[in-house]
Amino acid sequence: MKDKVLIFDTTLRDGEQALASSLSVDQKLRIARQLARLRVDIIEAGFPISSPGDFESVSTIAHEIEGPVICGLARLIDKDIVACGKALAGAARPRIHTFVGTSAIHMEKKLRKTNDEVVAMAVHAIKLCRKFCDDVEFSPEDAGRTEIDFLCRIVEAAIKSGATTINIPDTVGYTTPEKFAWIIDSVFNRVPNVDKAVISVHCHNDLGMATANSVTAVAHGARQVECAVNGLGERAGNAALEEVVMTLDVRKDLFNLSVGVDTREIMRTSKLVRDVCNMPVQPNKAVVGSNAFAHSSGIHQDGVLKSRKTYEIMTPQSIGLSDNRMNLTSRSGSHMVKSRLMALGYNEKEFDIEAFYKRFIELADKKGTVYDDDLVSLMESKGESDMTDAFSLDYLNVSSGKGTVPTATVRIVARGKVSMEAACGDGAVDAATKAIDRITGYSIAIEDFSLTSLTEGREALGKVKIVARANEGVFTGIGTSTDIVEASALAYMDVVNKIARMKKFKKKLPNAK
Ligand code: KIV
Ligand code: ZN
Repeated sequence: MKDKVLIFDTTLRDGEQALASSLSVDQKLRIARQLARLRVDIIEAGFPISSPGDFESVSTIAHEIEGPVICGLARLIDKDIVACGKALAGAARPRIHTFVGTSAIHMEKKLRKTNDEVVAMAVHAIKLCRKFCDDVEFSPEDAGRTEIDFLCRIVEAAIKSGATTINIPDTVGYTTPEKFAWIIDSVFNRVPNVDKAVISVHCHNDLGMATANSVTAVAHGARQVECAVNGLGERAGNAALEEVVMTLDVRKDLFNLSVGVDTREIMRTSKLVRDVCNMPVQPNKAVVGSNAFAHSSGIHQDGVLKSRKTYEIMTPQSIGLSDNRMNLTSRSGSHMVKSRLMALGYNEKEFDIEAFYKRFIELADKKGTVYDDDLVSLMESKGESDMTDAFSLDYLNVSSGKGTVPTATVRIVARGKVSMEAACGDGAVDAATKAIDRITGYSIAIEDFSLTSLTEGREALGKVKIVARANEGVFTGIGTSTDIVEASALAYMDVVNKIARMKKFKKKLPNAK
């Protein structure tokens, strides 16, 4: 047990506090199920006294989720503890987490209590918690700014009163790894009964050091880390679960400690939390950002092609991704382009890489990122710039509005042949794309649709980006117009033309993937 670091997930409590609106019972349950699949040790499901909805969430999770300890938060106040105990009644392994501010500023300004009063309140509250369950956690809030003698005094009293876990929170993300190590060392060296409790840490990221502070505390003896998926939490967030877990995993050579988390569930959990909480993840976010396993520079891509370990300290598969991503841009080298062409099914003898690479660079300079379908077009066009579209939108008319069934009529020219179709839909864009499908016969599912304004004012130019899936793969399409339905239809046509190119290519190469 001493060699294991417990992962205490607070996405549903501290993480939820940071959201614009609270999560429903159902949303919390979906995340809790995934946290159990991720095999976290403790789920902090909520703060039962804070609202009837949160009480119900904690209670539902306590009844339904098997595996992890289910924890609820309570101030040192009797009614909080009673509510928490009741909400956790259905849990196989319940834990009450109670806390109080212990820094001078919290005690003087927020609580208006003396040191002695705060210790007495903590002792009383912990004893009450123990009437509901044997597993009780105590947090001296703002420990990072708490005077060290008082911190040691209240921790000792908390353990004596029955607390089984002592959590040392850096509530305002103020500490640094060196200073935090000193605080943790002081707790271990100066609290006589410290061996009767698990020492935990809970670090906020206000100065970007939450993960560094957490793992430093682990190196100094802490055996529980409180963290949240995608680093959600008050203000700049909590230590990110994925960062803490992967640091302990990747640097096992330094820590030599185990964690129970199934790291292959990390990506799935991150995406679920992102979607349910409606909180995007920055592309360069450590471990789970969309660029975390993407290589862009030619030197890096060349290195990775020769040996992944040159630029990858962990495998994409270890966090549940199928593979890394090589961004083909003007920074990519010919080695990378050749390798991608061969992965697409071309035989080395079919192209002269030097000549092709020149054309690739011209396109990349114009376009930025070059996708697989662009490579295929470039290969198939042979000529310098023959990237003609198979289909072009010649006419679009839509009618929609209150009390009208949205209808669209489109005319498309395909290799000299003019076709016209009409369709109804859930809205004008849906009707237009259905009419286009009737002409092309393609089966396309739109996975993502975004509209951005390129200019200001009422007549602003809108840019629509569509990500769509067809049998041939995933394609992106872009369309611009002052009319958003037209911009959407043009973006859809962009997808249609890319599919047409891919179809042509696949017919030609039997081994194309
Ligand atoms: O940041 C903090 O101090 C907390 C406590 C409730 C542990 O979230
Ligand atoms: Zn916190």
